[in-house]
Amino acid sequence: MKASAIIVAAGSGVRLGYPTPKAFVPLGGAPLLRYALAAIAQVETIGEAVVTLPPGMESAARAEIRHAGLDLPVKLTPGGAERQDSVRIALELTSALAEVVVIHDAARPFATPASFAAAITAAARAGAAIAAIPLADTLKRVSEPNLIVETVPRANLWLAQTPQAFRRDLLVEAHRRALAAGIVATDDADLVQRLGAAVEVVPGASLNFKITTAQDLAIAAAIVAARADRPEPPRGADG
Ligand code: C5P
Repeated sequence: MKASAIIVAAGSGVRLGYPTPKAFVPLGGAPLLRYALAAIAQVETIGEAVVTLPPGMESAARAEIRHAGLDLPVKLTPGGAERQDSVRIALELTSALAEVVVIHDAARPFATPASFAAAITAAARAGAAIAAIPLADTLKRVSEPNLIVETVPRANLWLAQTPQAFRRDLLVEAHRRALAAGIVATDDADLVQRLGAAVEVVPGASLNFKITTAQDLAIAAAIVAARADRPEPPRGADG
């Protein structure tokens, strides 16, 4: 069976300072969520999707599925308290027949269909693969409040992004163990690595940044405006 996609979109986005939950904050006339849905709509190897949502956003999400032209079975579910909880809840709703599950943050509107496809292909072969980019800046460890303690050599340091794809059995086991042991990680690759499994990187992109602050949103809006003549996502007439 084709891969299952999990779109985590249940975050509140408090740091964005917006009254709307983050996945529904407008960007270029469409909510952030639509960008992720439109990207997976173009990935041949994805056969179903599960989307985690904040309370009360189901009908808004259904509208976005239509606008994105996503013609797949999609399940909607309330998210959990933390991102990791949301992924675990969504994972339980994915088909047990899917060999690979690919996870993506709705807060990253510029992930390309090619990055999903690459992560899925690599995960089917190697077990786990995530989009990542090599660190370009010099890394400093700073003690409170503002003193540099050391320069961390940046050779071999990469920034992890999503999409992140895993063989489903590996991911299920990683979340089962994390829940049992009370392990909280900031991404799923970390949980899978704790099983001793290898995780590959596939090319991410600096454009595939996560929208966290109002400044990130302003940068994203400028990117969308610059692309306005392209017939790419968001599809549909309004947000
Ligand atoms: O908060 P942050 O931006 O790091 O969250 C990353 C992604 O995880 C976002 O797309 C957010 O909607 C999602 N999330 C979730 N459930 C939570 C927290 C975050 O689905 N409890």
